[in-house]
Amino acid sequence: MAGWDMTRIETGGLDPEDWEAFRAEAHAMLDAAMDQMQSAGNGRVWTPLPEAQKAGLRAPLPREGAGVGAVRAGCEALLSYGVGNAHPRFFGWVHGSGTPGNMIAEIAAAAMNANLGGRDHGAIYVERQVVEWCREMMGFPEGASGLIVSGTSLATIIALKAARERALGVETRKEGIGAARLVGYCSSETHACVARAFDMLGIGSDALRLVPVDAEFRMQVDVLRAMIAEDRAAGLQPFALIGTAGSVNMGAIDPLETLAGIACDEGLWFHVDGAFGAMGMASARLRPLLRGLEAADSLAFDFHKWMHVNYDAGCVLIRDEADHRRAFAARPDYLEGATRGLAAGDRWAVDYGPELSRGFRALKVWASFVEHGVNRIGALAERNCDQAAYLGGLVEAEATTECLAPVTLNICCFRVLRDGLDDAALDALNAEIVLRLQEGGIAAPSTTRIKGRLAIRVNITNHRTTQEDIDILFRAVLAEAWA
Ligand SMILES: Cc1ncc(COP(=O)(O)O)c(C=O)c1O
Repeated sequence: MAGWDMTRIETGGLDPEDWEAFRAEAHAMLDAAMDQMQSAGNGRVWTPLPEAQKAGLRAPLPREGAGVGAVRAGCEALLSYGVGNAHPRFFGWVHGSGTPGNMIAEIAAAAMNANLGGRDHGAIYVERQVVEWCREMMGFPEGASGLIVSGTSLATIIALKAARERALGVETRKEGIGAARLVGYCSSETHACVARAFDMLGIGSDALRLVPVDAEFRMQVDVLRAMIAEDRAAGLQPFALIGTAGSVNMGAIDPLETLAGIACDEGLWFHVDGAFGAMGMASARLRPLLRGLEAADSLAFDFHKWMHVNYDAGCVLIRDEADHRRAFAARPDYLEGATRGLAAGDRWAVDYGPELSRGFRALKVWASFVEHGVNRIGALAERNCDQAAYLGGLVEAEATTECLAPVTLNICCFRVLRDGLDDAALDALNAEIVLRLQEGGIAAPSTTRIKGRLAIRVNITNHRTTQEDIDILFRAVLAEAWA
């Protein structure tokens, strides 16, 4: 073709010129990654990235490539400077601890480079299988729909969008919510992602009523009923009730069965945030605590928390597929489906969520189910609950520490006490203890506030933690308290 240098076009791709050399680099990287995972329990929990490496990551935009060797070296150099959540004494926030097996799935997913927005290809069937397994595990009815997403935050937005459209009709998608005065209810311990979803859906976070909790941090249902009645009398439109199965601060579980009944009586969409707690459905011992979860209209939960799937992966399940589809389906011409060929296939993911292009997250989730089985996941969750209870026992038995919330699941919130210090000084002392444990690389709890008091918060969603790790943590807390 005149004006085109075909030689240049045909030799200028991004594949390796020397596949053998590339293979050697890839194998070296795999070995380094395996070493990293195999030694997850050795050494420090968290190590901040050294200044020299931070400086190296402020380089100019590479105009010319440096080759795969530079990539391998750069990746290897980063391996020791993660969040630390693979370590058995990582107890911060709610981070899962990952698995080596997921690396295999990640390699396969990268090799396939599949886009799961829709169409008819192998990856789609894997995602469908994972959703189906989750539906069964969570006790949702056949025909319920679901989607693998980045995490509970996005799952919540998807679920509450379906709830919004059920309340106001599908026209809302074009017209917006106009003058509708929707209100929803959740406990004061509900994760901030619910208020964020109200915000993003145009309902406004002020429309999310925070129902007070009882001594066990569970939603007070009598107050909920009164609030609904009051809102109706004021001309507002109650549309959603959000229950929490495992609150982020202390693992409290709302009375889900009662909430399901109230939602049914009041004509409200019942959503459950089970970000980590829903994984208790994998355990025969924990499942009774979650009774009522299976009656929800929608459920949001994560694989990357208590199932230890490598970041990131979460799920939304919606009881009625029609509700789910109504909230998202709408395809432009170029995405038209077909009955044959690549554009065939029922249920394109793009009709069930806000993303068109989607990676193959489902494969690592599938891999975890296949490698470990649900029973093992459940047994490990039970072990974490036992460890949290054990820590609670240590705290109660020690005169200079106190629990700030009951241990109902896998989280223990406590603080160190010292005579003569008021609450503000105790807050500062306990915050300092957490910082020293993190900076010393000994353990990584985080902090939260329980009734205004700063707590050392120990969340155990970690399949590598042993009782000895709990002993080490507690001894280190006491040592730092008196250092
Ligand atoms: C109870 C609860 N809900 C929602 C979330 C948000 O989940 P994600 O970070 O996966 O979006 C969390 C995160 O810790 C959580 O604990």
